[in-house]
Amino acid sequence: MEIEMIKVSIKKDIENCNNQAELNDIRVKYIGKKGLITDLNSKIREVANEEKKEYGMKVNEIRTYFNTLFEDKYKKFEEEKLNEKLKSEKIDITMPSVNIEVGAPSILEKLVEDVEDVCMSMGYDVIDGPEIELDKYNFEMLNLPKGHPARDAQDTFYFDEAEEHLLRSQTSPVQVRTMLEGKGEKPVRMICPGKTYRRDDDDATHSHQFTQIEGLVVDKNISLTDLKGTIEVIVRRLFGEDVEVRFRPSYYPFTEPSVEIDISCFNCNGKGCNVCKESGWITVCGAGIVHPNVLKMSGYDPKVWSGFAFGFGAERLAMLKYGIDDCRVFYNNDLRESKEFDRVD
Ligand code: DAH
Repeated sequence: MEIEMIKVSIKKDIENCNNQAELNDIRVKYIGKKGLITDLNSKIREVANEEKKEYGMKVNEIRTYFNTLFEDKYKKFEEEKLNEKLKSEKIDITMPSVNIEVGAPSILEKLVEDVEDVCMSMGYDVIDGPEIELDKYNFEMLNLPKGHPARDAQDTFYFDEAEEHLLRSQTSPVQVRTMLEGKGEKPVRMICPGKTYRRDDDDATHSHQFTQIEGLVVDKNISLTDLKGTIEVIVRRLFGEDVEVRFRPSYYPFTEPSVEIDISCFNCNGKGCNVCKESGWITVCGAGIVHPNVLKMSGYDPKVWSGFAFGFGAERLAMLKYGIDDCRVFYNNDLRESKEFDRVD
């Protein structure tokens, strides 16, 4: 084939070439072992000597021509391939994100933590105890021997016929355990928040499982005054600095004297409203001076040591604080309800 013809054919072939496979065929056609340009090269032998130089230059020229067009086309295909890849692997950051539901801290937990904070600031330890308890710690060592009528109010769930193992009906057994560890020598200043269980029907203000925050101080010369001051600090932190505290006589087997603690209504400042049932006062806590029998049974000499104990219902505090009228809200895990009170801070 004429050199000029080959040139035209190269241009046409490369222009019409649609992919790399075709381009490879073209490469073979022109510069492969039996390719047209390779052929031109070998034909130099047949060319007359005086024309050899010019012929050689033309062959070189056409080879360069081929190489240039070939390279350009090759690059074009490579670029297309890369663009294709980039397109298929592209992450579209403008896509709407998957909506992940974020939970909210349980308001009951939050309330317990608030009480823990204020008590720790007064030097209290926060102590955990088992929820499956022995009758001995849950009742007997709290001055509630077997058959004591006050046990009825705290009937709970038992694990055995002998009724030795039970779900604790109060967190007071943790107080007993802590005193036992103190061996009648170490002063005690602790709170023991946690779950408790009773055989109650569930309604808006009762649940078979609820949360107590009990506290105990055992030291020398502890009196009701210390109790009053301590409770004041706690309830003022929760309900405001203007809140007043009053004691009413009550009965608990483990304290003597025992009191019921009311706070002045934070909603109406004691004038009377629906929160305090028009009385101006709200009961928040049971408490008292630790009964000498309780001290004695746990190894503390009541002639040397004295103490006070108190017990808050955490759900009740949270209901008052957040204006909730049904304690089941705390347990049903409905985010619409707990989110309402999301006070992430
Ligand atoms: N454990 C009591 C209850 O569940 C509450 C209570 C009252 C706890 C007086 C105390 C206390 O520590 O001193 O009804």
